Amino acid sequence: MTAFSHLFQPIRIGRMTVKNRLLMSAMSINFGVDESGLVTDQLTQYMATRAQGGVGMMLVGGGGIHPSGAELPNLPALWDDACIPGLQRMAEAIRPFNCRLGMQLMHGGRQSYHAHTLAPSAIPAPAVVKGQPRALTKEEIRMLTEAFGTAARRCQAGGFDFIEIHAAHGYLINQFMAPNANHREDEYGGSFENRIRFMLETLAQIRAACGSDFTIGVRMNAQDYILDGWGLEEALRLAVILEQSGADYLHVSAGVYGSTQLTIPSMYVPQGCFVDLAAAVKAEVAIPVVAVGRIKSPELAERILQEGKADVIALGRSLLADPQWPLKADAGAVRTIRPCIGCCLGCIHTVLQMEPGGCVVNPDVGREYLLSPIVPAGHQRRVLVVGAGPAGLAAARMAALHGHAVVLCEQHAASGGALRLAAMAPGRGDLQEIVDYFSEELRQLPVTMLFERALDDGVLKEVQPDVAILATGSLPGMPMLKGLFRTGMQVCTVTEVMDGSVQTGAQVIVLGGNQIGLVLADYLADQGKQVTVLHTRPHFGEEMSSNDRYYLRERLTRGRVRLFKQVLVEAFLADGVRFRTDRQIQTLAPFDTVVLADGFTSLREAANLLKGRGIETHFIGDAKHPRHLMYAISEAEELGRAL
Ligand SMILES: Cc1cc2nc3c(=O)[nH]c(=O)nc-3n(C[C@H](O)[C@H](O)[C@H](O)COP(=O)(O)O)c2cc1C
Ligand code: SF4
Repeated sequence: MTAFSHLFQPIRIGRMTVKNRLLMSAMSINFGVDESGLVTDQLTQYMATRAQGGVGMMLVGGGGIHPSGAELPNLPALWDDACIPGLQRMAEAIRPFNCRLGMQLMHGGRQSYHAHTLAPSAIPAPAVVKGQPRALTKEEIRMLTEAFGTAARRCQAGGFDFIEIHAAHGYLINQFMAPNANHREDEYGGSFENRIRFMLETLAQIRAACGSDFTIGVRMNAQDYILDGWGLEEALRLAVILEQSGADYLHVSAGVYGSTQLTIPSMYVPQGCFVDLAAAVKAEVAIPVVAVGRIKSPELAERILQEGKADVIALGRSLLADPQWPLKADAGAVRTIRPCIGCCLGCIHTVLQMEPGGCVVNPDVGREYLLSPIVPAGHQRRVLVVGAGPAGLAAARMAALHGHAVVLCEQHAASGGALRLAAMAPGRGDLQEIVDYFSEELRQLPVTMLFERALDDGVLKEVQPDVAILATGSLPGMPMLKGLFRTGMQVCTVTEVMDGSVQTGAQVIVLGGNQIGLVLADYLADQGKQVTVLHTRPHFGEEMSSNDRYYLRERLTRGRVRLFKQVLVEAFLADGVRFRTDRQIQTLAPFDTVVLADGFTSLREAANLLKGRGIETHFIGDAKHPRHLMYAISEAEELGRAL
């Protein structure tokens, strides 16, 4: 008996029966194809891992119907029959899991990654992709609709169960529909009927190629969220026409390049952000409607179905973070789901940098084909992990899963380290969820937790470790800046402010405009303080994903925070600072507090205690080198596996 009765109801979509209401949405992951775009074992195992995790239906993302429309360099190419054997191997690998396998077909139009893009009109993309597209001729339009049809037929021949047409997110079909991208004066431009013609011809071609029994869905935008874009009113009209034209389901999303921070929303965006758009579409049609957009928890997914706002729930990043989400939800083991934290860094940010996609909280993404199942190590070792930040927690979990006897000691009363503190800032609460996940995992494993215990002789005597893993984190160093040592202002670190051991005054200088400095500035501004951020580099928050940084920057422009970049501090004064930017010298005062939020150095003192005792010692996470969470978790899991 499942805890989520709506979520685990079967559903009929077209002629296809799906075992539950969960769809893995298409994600162009930018790995798993060879140089010709043919599917390799890497993509197959990535998909099979998710099918094994219990999702009812899943989509391969970024299926290219023609070379002119490739969104990214490493996506499946479906413009030649040579693709069929690879698709067959994937379908074969999925078959044991009773999961319906689909391909999302797309043409990127002006949002393709290469230099010779084609579009309805010669209008550049609003963002991300540079360059001038060429307007399609009518002959080319016909050729492309046919290419959608033949690509669909190849997927069908490869054993795929369904096709989703990508008509959303500002790609070619969406470009035809959106007034800002389509200035054509022929029968493909102008009126609503003309702008949706390419969409309908594409659907008709696929239907003709694959037959009436084959399931075809459409992913459409209900809002482009961009000036002169496609909007809800026209989307609702289109939904009805698509149903009449034989679409088997509608998948409702939003945003285009230029508003991608909405399409793939960061932790600042409320969960279920597009559900109301799906509900509006559902009110117009009888075919199943799919909702998407930061639907992270089984509880929210269940509620959306229960309230009749959608028929199917699409999970994107939640299935990158934890492929087992559906099985765990079905078993009621919700707290054991490894959560997507909405950082957008390992996934969309990385693929838009043309790198293979991954996930900050799940280092296994893209490596499924290389990993063997976790089995107990031949020889049990006593492992002492020092520090219960994300790296320490992840290492302790992996070592325990391998059957080692693990003790984790933490000098504070709670786990989470710097991440727990970062999660206290406005809109950053998702970060705590990954701490909670690891803590819950450790509760279920035979790991001894020693809280409020710094590493000392007593701990070493008690544990007698064979292996010590130091995950002791980092702290900002005191920069050698003139006047800082004798200023009348209070000087403290970001850690002291966030853990509450220091209260700042009302006028604060934050030294450092990377993620941590910006998040701190927001935290202080939220408490009514006036904050000035001094950043030495040319860009703020460079190590963040652009989707996440977008919202943080928005918050920081609300009036209480002043941001200065390319700053060279000349001197700290008794209650102020003199600095240079762009060859201009400024003196600002008065301030009460300077918070150090840059120049982190690893904390490795604990290693001194281990010297000469014959204990195998490892540093991970910030204790190895201060970096991003992605490295902390992947390094920890890598080491845990290797012990
Ligand atoms: C790395 C990445 C690639 C994506 N590629 C596609 C794509 O090819 N087609 C598409 O329709 N949506 C794409 N999306 C959007 C997702 O399908 C989904 O709509 C979005 O991530 C929001 O859902 P979520 O909050 O459950 O992740 C992509 C998302 C990510 C993270
Ligand atoms: S990288 Fe971040 S946003 Fe992307 S799936 Fe992983 S946790 Fe979620």
